[in-house]
Amino acid sequence: MLNIVIFGPPGSGKGTQSARIAKKYDLMHLSTGDMLREEMEKETSLGQKVSEFIDQGLLVPDEIVLKMLYGYMAEHMDSPGFIFDGFPRTIVQAEALDQLLDKHGIPINVVLSVEVEEKELFKRIMGRAEDSGRSDDSVEIAKQRLEVYKRQSLPLIDFYRKQGKIVAINGMEPVDEVFDNISQAIEAVKPV
Ligand code: AP5
Repeated sequence: MLNIVIFGPPGSGKGTQSARIAKKYDLMHLSTGDMLREEMEKETSLGQKVSEFIDQGLLVPDEIVLKMLYGYMAEHMDSPGFIFDGFPRTIVQAEALDQLLDKHGIPINVVLSVEVEEKELFKRIMGRAEDSGRSDDSVEIAKQRLEVYKRQSLPLIDFYRKQGKIVAINGMEPVDEVFDNISQAIEAVKPV
């Protein structure tokens, strides 16, 4: 199995690159953001609950995200691997993922940390806001999402650095070039 985590601030290109990675390496793309937005669109009770957090740019509580993610993973354990997009986002989530994968005897092969300057993040999010329909794509909420990222998610870099799994990716380059660099990083860890 090949398991990849793609990590980075809002607007850094995680979703864009994950779609390409999933296609090239035949991986199951697990985006917790997409899963949560689907619940909101379907107006399920879970969707109503999580919209209170998403609309304010806050993280959805760990227990909700973990339960949802486990459900998706359980349905796809026969897949050749996973690309985790936007997950984990807290130390609690990262420890839970390690425990779950350990139980199945499968590792995270690499954590791609996509680095993009703040000014560019806002430019991208505002560009996308024109047609994304996302309730959290406004300047005010994007600022909040970035603050939350710094406070709650950045510590994961150290967490995965200690495991020797972090590879920094320059996300400032055009999409194709970022993908080439990501592919090289994956080839270096891919089981033969
Ligand atoms: P989520 O959906 O994960 O959003 P995010 O992390 O804020 O990331 P974005 O979707 O904004 O950006 P991205 O990095 O995927 O970039 P993209 O490829 O779209 O989470 C949303 C919310 O859900 C969270 O705030 C939280 O409330 C909740 N949530 C989700 N997961 C959670 C978890 N695990 N725990 C708790 N809560 C959770 O690209 C952005 C734009 O830039 C696009 O228009 C794209 O075309 C463009 N672009 C991409 N790459 C490039 C490039 N190289 N050059 C120029 N433009 C580019």
